[in-house]
Amino acid sequence: MASIDMKSIVKQYGDGFPAVNDVSLDIADGEFMILVGPSGCGKSTLLRMIVGLEDITSGDMVIGGKRVNDLAPRDRNLSMVFQNYALYPHMTVYENIAFPLRLSKTPDDEVRRKVEAASDVLELKEHLERKPANLSGGQRQRVAMGRAIVRDAEAFLFDEPLSNLDAKLRGQMRTEISRLQRRLGITTVYVTHDQTEAMTLGDRVCVLRKGKIQQVASPRELYEQPVNLFVAGFIGSPPMNFLPATPEGNRLKTPFGDIELDEKRAAAVAGRDLLLVGIRPEYFEDATLVDEAKRPVGSTFRARVDVTEWLGDSQYAYIPYDAPDSIKAQLRDLSKELDSEELRTQAIVSIDATSRIREGREAEFWLDSRKVHVFDPETGDNLTRDAEAGAELTRLATQDRLEQAEDARDRETDARGGATAVGVG
Ligand SMILES: Nc1ncnc2c1ncn2[C@@H]1O[C@H](COP(=O)(O)OP(=O)(O)O)[C@@H](O)[C@H]1O
Ligand SMILES: [Mg+2]
Repeated sequence: MASIDMKSIVKQYGDGFPAVNDVSLDIADGEFMILVGPSGCGKSTLLRMIVGLEDITSGDMVIGGKRVNDLAPRDRNLSMVFQNYALYPHMTVYENIAFPLRLSKTPDDEVRRKVEAASDVLELKEHLERKPANLSGGQRQRVAMGRAIVRDAEAFLFDEPLSNLDAKLRGQMRTEISRLQRRLGITTVYVTHDQTEAMTLGDRVCVLRKGKIQQVASPRELYEQPVNLFVAGFIGSPPMNFLPATPEGNRLKTPFGDIELDEKRAAAVAGRDLLLVGIRPEYFEDATLVDEAKRPVGSTFRARVDVTEWLGDSQYAYIPYDAPDSIKAQLRDLSKELDSEELRTQAIVSIDATSRIREGREAEFWLDSRKVHVFDPETGDNLTRDAEAGAELTRLATQDRLEQAEDARDRETDARGGATAVGVG
């Protein structure tokens, strides 16, 4: 296992187009790093430069402390786990896992030892004599990972491995990959355009836009303290709502009434003209369902609901609002870039499933103003981001990862100790 450090990595294709533009990213030994962003932002290009399938135009690629820019893929000892698992249908699970060892003419007893150890971790022991066609999708994925494990690779690399699967299987495989990565503690770089995968799998997530890093942080930091409009709009589903807002003292005038800002936020937006306020769907509630005690920390407003969607455990309401043309254009561009369909100026509001708010009627809503972020519509910068609070969230996530790794090592030592004791007895 190894760390992967990238310093000012640039990739220009033949036509001079910078697909990856000055990326510096340090991935710790054992870390699960996600590269996420819309199609064409350079994720695969970056991954392929790590593996060595693509030349690096400039910058340094350092793996395990060693500069690998000029090393061939096979000399980097990384394992790319391909989509569809590239398993050989005519070979048994055992031989599929053993495949890279056969290629390197490894002696039989060593092959057996390694395949057995890998199939143990992957819970494939009972399936070693079966053919891939008789396995579930999850088991096939594990076979593919087994092949990577027996090579003792420095890192696992995945490029959208789940994109061809149906939603249910995708969910299962996501859990599987996450569980195995934790258990094995192998440095992993995982490419996806799916923000749900990014949020659920990663220790940290690197958000890319047009070849440039926007933010590298734990899922929680990305969600709660996004650096800009792009990250705020990309992370979260349904997405964050962006409404036009004008500051007035410590208040923001918005189509949903006035939102009061604390001193720090008010100071950050003072003297500005037209801004965008970002409000996540779950910051709203049906005002009639909010405790008296909680009401004063937010603001209330009346609005007509266009559509409601009742999902059993929750409910969404769509509230149209008006915005100046410049803001409309801005939001349209953003939606286009994020491949989302929310082109119209309407807010998506998540309210309690028991709410009696109905379509076509006016209702009173409550909004938790403590959590809103305010963005500069020109630059997209988040003006109210609390960098310290964000860094703390990522620090906690890293601490969790290191503690989990330690626990895993302890368990392994215990297991070994136990085996020795039995042997002696
Ligand atoms: N072989 C290539 N030659 C020229 N341009 C390429 C090549 N491969 C990718 N690109 C361009 O580089 C950009 C990034 O591509 P890619 O890394 O595949 O993005 P992603 O994986 O994020 O969808 C895209 O604009 C794409 O058109
Ligand atoms: Mg790609």
